[in-house]
Amino acid sequence: MSKSFQAIKGTKDLLPVDTARWREFEAVIHDTMQQWGFGEIRTPIFEKTELFSRSVGEESDIVSKQMYTFIDQSDTSLTLRPELTAPTMRAYIQHNMDREGALTKLYYMDTLFRQERPQAGRLRQFNQFGAEAIGSPHPEQDAEVIVLACAILNKLGVANPTVLVNTVGSSESRERYRSELVNFLTPLKNELSETSQKRLKSNPLRILDTKDKKEVALLSDAPDILNCLNSEDLHHFEKVQGFLNELGIAHECSNKLVRGLDYYTRTTFEITSPDVGAQNALCGGGRYDELIEQLGGKPTPAVGFAAGIERIMLALGEKQDQTTEKVMVYIVTASESAVDSLFRLANKLRQNGISTSFDTLRRSVKAQMREANRLAATHAVIVGDEEIADSSAKVKNFKTGEQNTISMNDLVSHLKSL
Ligand code: HAM
Repeated sequence: MSKSFQAIKGTKDLLPVDTARWREFEAVIHDTMQQWGFGEIRTPIFEKTELFSRSVGEESDIVSKQMYTFIDQSDTSLTLRPELTAPTMRAYIQHNMDREGALTKLYYMDTLFRQERPQAGRLRQFNQFGAEAIGSPHPEQDAEVIVLACAILNKLGVANPTVLVNTVGSSESRERYRSELVNFLTPLKNELSETSQKRLKSNPLRILDTKDKKEVALLSDAPDILNCLNSEDLHHFEKVQGFLNELGIAHECSNKLVRGLDYYTRTTFEITSPDVGAQNALCGGGRYDELIEQLGGKPTPAVGFAAGIERIMLALGEKQDQTTEKVMVYIVTASESAVDSLFRLANKLRQNGISTSFDTLRRSVKAQMREANRLAATHAVIVGDEEIADSSAKVKNFKTGEQNTISMNDLVSHLKSL
């Protein structure tokens, strides 16, 4: 029979060998976020399309090319979320979360969707975790968010991350920079790609994000945004870097880091890894002081980041096989009567918190032992007629090969003491 159904291109099944690692990851993320005072938020998988076009920006790649958008039965345009900042801000406004306190710290870990060209580290359905700190306009808040991202990557085991920081200024500084950039690029217009020529009119800063080698070379002489910042923006940026220095977070200033989403003001940052190839950004974020107001809330400053879980896993590579020290029992039945008492024994072990598996195929003792091995059980508990008669079990340690007869009454405490 041919396998007619395959997972959609750019999506992935997680099998039990994968999910064990995912759960470890998720535990690190939940623990750290909560330790740092961020509360978890979960929003629906789809939202009104307009939420994303108004926030991420009509001209962005995400909105113009990558969204999974559909019209539902009531003629409403809905979109599978391509990012989580806008939904989180929608929920913040909808639930009047500002009333709970002047500073709201939220985190998420969820699935999102972007119709990109799939390649290593670039999927169409993928997972992000991220944090959003809402309410503070001050640079220490930007620094806390960047340091949090670094702390989690560090705990997950990412080696050699590079932290890139930039500022896109407030609207006033950005306006000044925009006109300097347009003045610089207009005489070079014919050398720009079609997309960049369009962007020259609609959103010239996005040209800085180009991956085209020729354009990158042209841009090497482009004006520097730092020279267009007003004094408050410059001070903010210097303070953010000062906090990072104080905390020993090595970082590089990258004056072309504008990011692909339109809502940023002032700080932008990315954390990259040399271990993931072309798609090297593990994490991206920044400040977005105007977004909440744009979405209908009160003017409220905010800053946050999001990191791609699949990409981090790629950076970490295959993990060496995990040697779990935890006792994991496989019950081996050596006679038919042992099968009858199997459930009672398995229940007793499981109720006492001991991971337990057994055979339901009535295979030979040898085959059961082989299966125990395949499942990486640490111990076999062998029960046959002899053991039933004197109310005992044989416990075999797979690592040492040692085998002992233990009375049924002592079995749980024996296994727990291992
Ligand atoms: P972003 O840069 O679009 O930012 O995405 C953040 C991270 O998600 C990327 O650095 C990457 O690791 C991962 N990622 C993005 N696209 C894909 C994909 N197709 N496949 C796998 N991983 C991917 C945002 O989403 C902003 N909402 C971040 C933010 C939060 N800014 C402020 N707060």
